[in-house]
Parts: sequence; C-alpha cells; structure tokens
Amino acid sequence: MFQKIQKVLNESFEGKTVKIRGWIYRKRDSGAISFIVIRDSTNIIQATVKKNEVDEKTWKNITEAYIETHVEVEGIVKKDERAPTGFELKVSKLKITSKSEPFPIAKDNSEEFLLDIRHLWLRSREQNAIMKIKSNIFKSIRNTFYKEGFVEVTPPIIVSSATEGGSTLFELDYFGKKAYLSQSSQLYLESLIFNLDKVFAITPSFRAEKSRTMRHLAEYWHVEPEAAYYDLDDMVDLAEKMLQNICKDVIKENSPELVALGRNPDYLKITATEKADRITYDEAIKLLQNKDVKINWGDDLGTEEERVLTQERKKPVFVMNYPKEIKAFYMKENPKNPKTVLGADCLAPEGYGEIIGGSQREDNYEKLIERIKTTGGKPEDYAWYLDLRKYGSVPHSGFGLGVERVVRWVCKLEHIRDTIPYPRTINRSYP
Ligand code: 4AD
Ligand code: MG
Repeated sequence: MFQKIQKVLNESFEGKTVKIRGWIYRKRDSGAISFIVIRDSTNIIQATVKKNEVDEKTWKNITEAYIETHVEVEGIVKKDERAPTGFELKVSKLKITSKSEPFPIAKDNSEEFLLDIRHLWLRSREQNAIMKIKSNIFKSIRNTFYKEGFVEVTPPIIVSSATEGGSTLFELDYFGKKAYLSQSSQLYLESLIFNLDKVFAITPSFRAEKSRTMRHLAEYWHVEPEAAYYDLDDMVDLAEKMLQNICKDVIKENSPELVALGRNPDYLKITATEKADRITYDEAIKLLQNKDVKINWGDDLGTEEERVLTQERKKPVFVMNYPKEIKAFYMKENPKNPKTVLGADCLAPEGYGEIIGGSQREDNYEKLIERIKTTGGKPEDYAWYLDLRKYGSVPHSGFGLGVERVVRWVCKLEHIRDTIPYPRTINRSYP
C-alpha cells in the first residue's frame, strides 16, 4: 500500500519501511548518492538512493531521470533536519513507472512563457497550496449559506441582457441571434426569491475587461446570494459573516498551505473574529481628500483610491451608500438621500480593495424603468425582469463575491491570475 508523503513526515514513521509514489521534483547527484525530492499531492520528501544499495539498472535509470519522472519508491523513514521537510527516505527499491522528457520549466522563465505552459506550471507547490485554499473557501462559503438557510440554484450562463452595463459583455452568436455570456446571475436569482426566499448560485461570470490589471479576469467565479426581506444592513451582515467564516476555516484547515506560501496565518485572525468596519461613501471621500487624493463627491473609487482607503487596515471595510450615478440601475434609491443608493462594496484590507459588491434592489416598478432608461438601457430588454415588480414585489437584497479576489487577498498574492488554474485575460485564452 502506498502512503501519502504528508502522513510519513512524522516521528511515528521513524525507522519504518514505507512505499510512496510521486513525481521527481528536484534531483541532485553526488558521486555514489542521488538525492531526489519526490512530490505528491500532499507534500515533498527527500529520498536518497545509494549506488551500492540498489541494482545496477535502477542506479542507471535514476541518474538518467529528468524531473517530473513518475516513480514508486520503497524505503526507511529517517528524521533529518537538513532534508527540506525534516525527514528523509533511505531508498531500497525504486521503480520508474513513467519517464519524463527534459522538463521545460527552469528558473528565470519569463511570465509569458510560464503562462504558455500553464498546464505544466500548475504542478508547482505554490499552485498546490493556492488550489487547496480555494477549494476550502468554496466549502466555507457553501457552509455559510446552508447554515443561513439558503437554497443553491442554477441560473443560466447564456443570457439576453446586461446586468452590469454593456461595456464588458461578451457577445455570441446564438443560433443567428445575439446572446451574451453572463456577467452576473443576479437578475435571475431575483426571480427565484419569490419562490424560495433565500437563494444562491456559484457560477462563472464573464467580463470583457479591456484593461490589464492585477485584479481583473475575463472569466471568474462568482458567488451570489439573493434574499427576500433582507435590507442593505442584513446583506452586509451576511457578507461579513461569510468573510469571518472564510478566515476561520482557512486558519483552521489551511495553515500549512499559507506557511508554504510564506504567509503567517495570524493576519486573518482579526477578520475572523472582529466586526468589519463600515463607512459611508461620503466618509470615504473625506478620508481620501485628507490623504491628498484628488477626488470629488460623485467620482467612482478606482483601484488606486481603494488601495489608499485600505492599505493601513487589518480587516475589511464596507463602503455604503455610493452615489446613484456611478452604480448599476437595479440598486435601490436611498430614501434618506435620493442622490445615493442602498448599496455597499466590501474592500479587503492591506490595499487589496473590492471583493464584494451588493445592494438592496429597487423594488418600485416606475423607479426601476426610470433607472434603466437613464443608464442607457432599453426597458424592452428587461421586460421579464420588470415583471418581477408587478406580481407581489417584496424588498430584497443580494451581493456578488469574486472568489478569485478573495483568494488573492487571503493568500496575499500580487496578481489575480495565480488564483485560477487557467486565467482568461485580454490576450490569453490558451492553454
Ligand atoms: O461589483 P460587481 O460587478 O457586481 C455584480 O455583478 C452584482 N450584480 C452582484 C450582485 O449583487 N449579485 O461584481 C461583484 C464582484 C466584485 O466585487 C468582484 O469581487 C468580482 O465580482 N468581480 C471580478 N473578479 C474578477 N475579475 C473581474 N473582472 C471582476 N469583476 C467583478
Ligand atoms: Mg463592483
């Protein structure tokens, strides 16, 4: 029986003979000893092969093997401080089950080259850690929804109208008619609250982002709840709880992965345990002006403004009540100040910026038509959506969370492309 590497990196295995299998991750030959580091899904272990302890053919095979060769190895586990993961395997039997050609990835490859061979780069230890953290974040998100009584639903991805404005729509030929890839499931989710009260969907969303930035993808994973009878504060509370749970679960289950990425999990503790900050858009503008950022009331907050607002923070901040003019048509007008909406963005700390955007929805039929018109849309295109306000409309709210944005922040990564196996950006859809 093969053991997983992580399991045998343990004092209880000291002196025991174990069998493991995996890929050669690093290799160094030194005279009559070959040091190979083997990786599997769980970790890496150094294995030493001595010329006089294996047969001639095995020795020849191992000295000629390239990294990424797949091997099955039997040997004795020994504690060794000098080994990369603290233990070493003294090899008695080694079988090469699949040879590798010279592996194209070496030190100092260019970013573009690494993206071209992404299918091989994904074998990296860094990607191993990030993908495990992302998986646990999905699990945490679903658990929060289940605990709060949300029902998971499956909205369409091929859609007939824009949710977030026309400029980032991917158009496609749908049997001779125009259709689009979904930017957000929101409008469809709104239709489902009239039956299920609280729903959520986790889908890919598409944005034809024409700029190259550290935080935009053309295809990303979108978590969207929608809930009947929730007002803006309820929506913010749910988002806050979700982020707290994500941080708790990552600390609990992914500390080794964070350490592997060179991060200290402690920085997530504040978000896990404290309430997030809440400020109004008005306050945000004042804070920015006090920091000499040139911005006026009514301007949108871009990457740079969000960076300034969050770089010294240790936990997320919700910015509430943005001006109506800069937000989507579906956000409910703020009854206390009709120039603003009942909407909020959640900005991640330490400069990361927007990870969630949400609002209470405009539930008044006439106002919604007006907003569609003033934002350049055609009410005909939203006929079905407008129907929802005609048949027993109720107050409701929801938000959208960008999973890769959250992973980028939780893992403290510079670029969002490292949070998704195959990033889709303006000039890349291969591999
Ligand atoms: O703020 P956005 O555009 O809001 C909506 O789509 C709403 N309809 C959601 C809703 O209320 N149901 O997008 C929501 C989140 C953003 O906060 C961000 O985290 C992420 O989606 N996002 C992107 N992530 C990666 N790449 C992009 N190009 C993104 N655009 C938005
Ligand atoms: Mg937004």
